Amino acid sequence: MNPASVTLALLAVSTSLSSAPIASNRWYDHAVIYEIYPRSFQDTNGDGIGDLNGITARLDYLKELGVDAIWITPFFPSPNFDFGYDISDYTSVAPEYGTLHDWNKLVAEANKRGIRILIDFVLNHTSDQHPWFKESRSSRTNPKRDWYVWRSGGGPDQPPTHWTSIFGGYTWTWDAPTTQWYYHIFLPQQPDVNWRNPQLRNAMYNVVRFWLDHGASGFRLDATPYLFEDPAFPEDPHPPQPGAEAALKPYNSGRPENHEVLREMRKILDSHPGNPVLLGESSTATIEDLAKVYGTNHDEIQLPMDFLFGNLTTLDAAVFKKQVDAAQLQLGGQTPVFFFSSHDHPRQWSTFGDGAHNDQIAKLTAALTLAQHGCVLLYYGEEIGMGTMPADQLKTVPIGPKRPRADDRDGERTPMQWDLAKNASFTNGEPWLPVETGADRYNVATEKQNPDSIYSWYSKLLKLRHDDAAFREGAYIPLDSGNRDVFAFGRKAGSGEMALIVLNTSPKDQTVSITGTSGGWPNFRKLLMASPQAELPTSQTFTIAAYGVMIATTE
Ligand code: NOJ
Repeated sequence: MNPASVTLALLAVSTSLSSAPIASNRWYDHAVIYEIYPRSFQDTNGDGIGDLNGITARLDYLKELGVDAIWITPFFPSPNFDFGYDISDYTSVAPEYGTLHDWNKLVAEANKRGIRILIDFVLNHTSDQHPWFKESRSSRTNPKRDWYVWRSGGGPDQPPTHWTSIFGGYTWTWDAPTTQWYYHIFLPQQPDVNWRNPQLRNAMYNVVRFWLDHGASGFRLDATPYLFEDPAFPEDPHPPQPGAEAALKPYNSGRPENHEVLREMRKILDSHPGNPVLLGESSTATIEDLAKVYGTNHDEIQLPMDFLFGNLTTLDAAVFKKQVDAAQLQLGGQTPVFFFSSHDHPRQWSTFGDGAHNDQIAKLTAALTLAQHGCVLLYYGEEIGMGTMPADQLKTVPIGPKRPRADDRDGERTPMQWDLAKNASFTNGEPWLPVETGADRYNVATEKQNPDSIYSWYSKLLKLRHDDAAFREGAYIPLDSGNRDVFAFGRKAGSGEMALIVLNTSPKDQTVSITGTSGGWPNFRKLLMASPQAELPTSQTFTIAAYGVMIATTE
């Protein structure tokens, strides 16, 4: 073996044993980031729509829960064809959410509590009502024509390609007055900007600077795979069916040009104090592709969301292990980002619940993500076991001024459930979406009183992540449970403390025989958390209850 291959072989051995412990002092490497859908979190002016002042009013709750940062989905002016993901003004606050003054207040109050704020940056497209697009479509010779992606195709009946949009139909819309097609990977009301144009690029970077100067600690970057298209616009003889995964094609996503933009954006962030961060909506088809999103020199997105994990929908220990091992061991030591629920994903209490043991299963999926090495995203209400509004109930919700369009994803966007008062104290008015039916049981006030509630479980897990060295910075140790229904893994701190996490995804008690701990079976001396109650394991062979979670430590 030559020296280079010896080094490679050694690297392969070390990465297969554990992830790197978190040695950096970058706040986001082990952060819990709490996603807030502002429309649904807390209304303070009685219009039935949540607002920025509502978030400010609930900061003490978030502080007590122990989150490090919040990510707020778009609150900028928008015609709301895609609830804020079609922005018509990047540097103002939509009146329904408040004012820039409210934003400043929110930042000041969050700073006092040590909570950082990430905002959603929709950089792939604007609204078709954005002044940039209005200018661009006004004539073929307008200076902003090239800020968007225009092609002639073969005339009004012949689009330039037959590529499929993520939201259905083709990616092209005909503009009769200027007799050209414009490109949109999402809705026709969301035209893609042209990142090849230097002026557009600069205008977008100014948006980044604006929000950094206004106290943002970073950005959740929307739809990052789609910034560039293959300039040859090759025809697709077999266009995919509409749908997010279907749209990930080499000609419309993951283009090499993306890296340059992300590096430039990262440079802007790095020149600002406070270690701001890029959290990427970075769907990839493989773990190798995900590793590339961090940048060859780790100079692009610090936190790309792992959709290979986040899109899992079956409760299966073997599948969880495969995906977690990949995230922990194959990302070249970069920080993995775990999540299950979001404003685009049905809530995990419903997704993984079997109808009879949903609360116990919610505790299991919470431990699965929150006990990981890396960054974890929580979606508002996940910590109290909010469920997805069933589709047939959602269908009965009327369309009106507060909810201009039906969207299947609204099932996971119902109002936050604070207590037993009317509308769960989300609003004094008529909520834009009804409160979910489980609110009398699943709400903050009720669950805070109960040490066995989902809230109390989350709160303990978050505390562990802050207070216990193994959970704060410990490396991930892959283990073999000897049982395909049980996922076991370890966390090991630099001090030598080792924690053991065991998760039974089956409806039956299971016996495990755990191997993979180096130097024999550690002396686990303390049971940190267990649901249902369990004994501290005294050897590597023990039984774990149906859907059981057990967390022990050597300290
Ligand atoms: C991803 C966002 O999360 C989703 O809600 C939105 O519809 C699309 N991007 C388009 O912006």
